[in-house]
Amino acid sequence: MLPVIEYLLSYSVPAGLERQALSALTLNPDHRWHERMDHALFVVTAQHEGSRVGVGIVHNAVTAPTQAPRPLELGGMFVHPAYRRLGIRQHMAESRLTYALSMGGTPITVIAHHNQTSWNYYGRSARWTPECEYLSDVTGRPMTIWVSTESPWHRTGRGLVPLVPAQPNTALPHYTQVHRPPLGPGQDNAVPA
Ligand SMILES: CC(C)(COP(=O)(O)OP(=O)(O)OC[C@H]1O[C@@H](n2cnc3c(N)ncnc32)[C@H](O)[C@@H]1OP(=O)(O)O)[C@@H](O)C(=O)NCCC(=O)NCCS
Repeated sequence: MLPVIEYLLSYSVPAGLERQALSALTLNPDHRWHERMDHALFVVTAQHEGSRVGVGIVHNAVTAPTQAPRPLELGGMFVHPAYRRLGIRQHMAESRLTYALSMGGTPITVIAHHNQTSWNYYGRSARWTPECEYLSDVTGRPMTIWVSTESPWHRTGRGLVPLVPAQPNTALPHYTQVHRPPLGPGQDNAVPA
């Protein structure tokens, strides 16, 4: 039977015991890991029977040479080896992207070319597209910055109308009225909302 996974969302920097528990999930909670955690705006945690089995964050400690305005980086993704291939990354990645888009920034993520699992995921998703490649100062390895295809920056750069994040009180653009063909007899059965 598949384990029942709970997803918890937080909008503050993980500190104290919570930071320790999330850091223990990763193989190498180094300086960069803590820098990202220190700038976390959103944290999604996967839990199984009270234990943390996955984490993903959105942060603004961006070091990659992106041209995107107001970049919000989706990073710090890690799933415990015993819980992989259950769709946990898929779930956490979607919730990170929804958050970053709703904040009005440009969601980006940085993938090392040798990380085949992540490369496959972003490469086949219509929601992401490569922005540029660069060599990491830290590892000397090639990396690619991916940018959200739903971000206003990406869409306007391609002459597309920006998608309006579904937030309360968002002013929608004024669209030209659509002219519909006249209804026939008995077709005007719309119920007012
Ligand atoms: C990369 C990583 C986060 C993926 O986590 P995950 O929870 O196993 O990811 P998912 O389950 O969503 O997807 C993994 C694969 O399992 C498949 N899958 C998902 N649910 C499945 C299921 N119920 N049964 C079988 N396969 C399934 C997915 O289709 C995906 O296939 P793919 O490898 O062909 O793309 C995890 O391997 C990890 O923590 N790696 C080390 C750290 C790392 O690389 N982090 C990312 C840095 S960018």
